[in-house]
Amino acid sequence: MSGEGGAVVGWAGPQLILDSGEVYRNPTEVKMSQIVMPCHSNHCGELSVGQLLKWMDSTACLSAERHAGCSCVTASVDDIHFEQTIGVGQVVCIKAKVNRAFTSSMEVGIVVTCEDLYSNRKWSVCHAFATFVARRSEMGKVQLKQVIPHTQAEQIEYSLAAERRRMRLIHAETIKDLLTNWSSQQDECMQHTDGVVAEHTRVESVELVLPPHTNHQVSTFGGQIMAWMENVATISASRLCNAHPTLRTIDMFHFRGPSHIGDRLVLKAIVNNTFKKSMEVGVCAEAYQGGEALRHINSAFMTFEVLDHNKEPRMLPQIQPEPMDGKRRFQEAIARRKIRLDRKYIISCKQSEVPLSVPWDSTNQMYLSYNNVSALKMLAARNNWVLTSEKKKVSLYTLEENHTLCFKVETRVSVAAEKVFLLLSDLRCRLEWDPHYKECEIVSYVDEDDTIYRVVTPSISKGGKVQDFILLASRRRPCDSGDPYWIALRSVIMPAYPPTADYNRGEVLCAGFSIEEEDCALTKLSYFNQASPGVLPYISTDIAGLSSRSYSAFASCSSFLEENEDSVVSGLAGAPAGHTSGKPL
Ligand code: COA
Ligand code: ADP
Repeated sequence: MSGEGGAVVGWAGPQLILDSGEVYRNPTEVKMSQIVMPCHSNHCGELSVGQLLKWMDSTACLSAERHAGCSCVTASVDDIHFEQTIGVGQVVCIKAKVNRAFTSSMEVGIVVTCEDLYSNRKWSVCHAFATFVARRSEMGKVQLKQVIPHTQAEQIEYSLAAERRRMRLIHAETIKDLLTNWSSQQDECMQHTDGVVAEHTRVESVELVLPPHTNHQVSTFGGQIMAWMENVATISASRLCNAHPTLRTIDMFHFRGPSHIGDRLVLKAIVNNTFKKSMEVGVCAEAYQGGEALRHINSAFMTFEVLDHNKEPRMLPQIQPEPMDGKRRFQEAIARRKIRLDRKYIISCKQSEVPLSVPWDSTNQMYLSYNNVSALKMLAARNNWVLTSEKKKVSLYTLEENHTLCFKVETRVSVAAEKVFLLLSDLRCRLEWDPHYKECEIVSYVDEDDTIYRVVTPSISKGGKVQDFILLASRRRPCDSGDPYWIALRSVIMPAYPPTADYNRGEVLCAGFSIEEEDCALTKLSYFNQASPGVLPYISTDIAGLSSRSYSAFASCSSFLEENEDSVVSGLAGAPAGHTSGKPL
């Protein structure tokens, strides 16, 4: 997936030396190294993705069990993008570690690299996030111990894991909604009468679950099921193109229920649609024992390409879908492709590579919201902030890196953290304390945690035009006790609010608040901003010591919070209906 210029990627970061003099190693970290043998490969001498998925799942499961101290099962795996294939004779290195534990579930990060022993070259193959759940004991649901992050890299993953969890728990529902809306908007699908008949790509296969396919608790390994699914998907894809297909992406999926020794697993695959140089194959896994009804275990959507002799994807034949289900899947595959592209582009892009404003629409809302909060969390987790100045208990920090300037303003207020959160998460309240906010209106109330605002601020130059911003505000309550509250802001493009001649359209790449409870009536409030051209002139004079606008804005923010803390309870804080409530995930 990440294939970053051949470099090995990992989470090591700068080494942490313990008091004992030893280099810190995450206690949940598990490594597996395997030489790829012909028995692991396909007929082209490449490691089969199914085998790789089995190794990834076992490594991750051992890591989860090391943390949980009990047996665990794979609940879900987020999107995986494979950028490299691995050849026979090369060494696969898999590292897994628990990023965060919730109640009974854990997010495990998996990094796969490959090594050529003869040239000493190492490169990244893919990374993945899997969720494992500790098996219920006789006492009921297991309460896992918390993960304590020690390094900056661990802190970032810990913080982002909460955001990824939020996204994966609503993923199935969101995709369902999007597919329903999408299908109702589409006309009949185009008929490619000269295309390959979809029926020709249909594959069905059965597997008997035997002891080697299961763990010591006799549950089928998730990796084994993924490997069987990949096998039928590959046959289906080959039937479309009469060539060897290469698996590029597996969409996020969830194991709906367990499977055990003696189960017959029925795997069904068909090409749902083709897109010039890629195709989507859908696979469904169902289980039964004896005369029982089929149990739906998993459905996965895989994207394949066919590479030419220059390793470039070649054109693919079109597909003629079957009536009814075939046509529906054909349409749904188009919708999933859009969602997949949004997700890959918005989520996997490095923050510096995301263009300032991304067009907002209901199909990418979830990813923009994730990107908004995760960018702020990553900025906040940086450990190289430099204290630039301090006035009246307001501290100004800066972070200069790679041609960007970020700043942080921090203070403590004698107001409970939740009230600070509620008062600040309605941007319209900012008109009362921030002199840069001249107008603020809600453009779209997306959901309880996400709202889009249009904000007007003064001109940055004398006599120039005033600026306006279209901002997505995403707010998050703590996931666990000890977590801060977050309010993240970033610019988005809304077609209904294009830039107009009277305003300069300003842009915010990453900004927002973290609100940390110190005690029930004392809160550490931090404001972060990755300075964009519209903000730079204000802050650079403060940093240079020529003005103190950020101090006075923060001082009036503190007064505003103290004066209005009681209005939150009575709902007079200016928050729109529903904004004063909300439950943690
Ligand atoms: N992605 C990630 N985690 C998920 C999830 C998903 N799609 N769906 C549920 N979970 C998490 C919940 O958030 C919860 O975590 P928490 O305890 O930290 O809050 C945990 O799973 C248990 O949820 P709960 O509501 O108690 O149970 P459930 O009825 O939703 O069951 C599984 C969840 C995963 C236990 C269940 O779907 C299952 O048994 N799946 C099969 C697992 C398996 O056998 N895998 C191997 C291959 S078949
Ligand atoms: P659907 O509602 O599309 O059937 P499922 O989750 O049951 O959704 O299946 C996921 C994918 O598995 C489908 O999009 C399709 O590609 C494939 N699939 C499902 N059923 C069959 C089948 N009977 N034969 C071949 N492929 C199937």
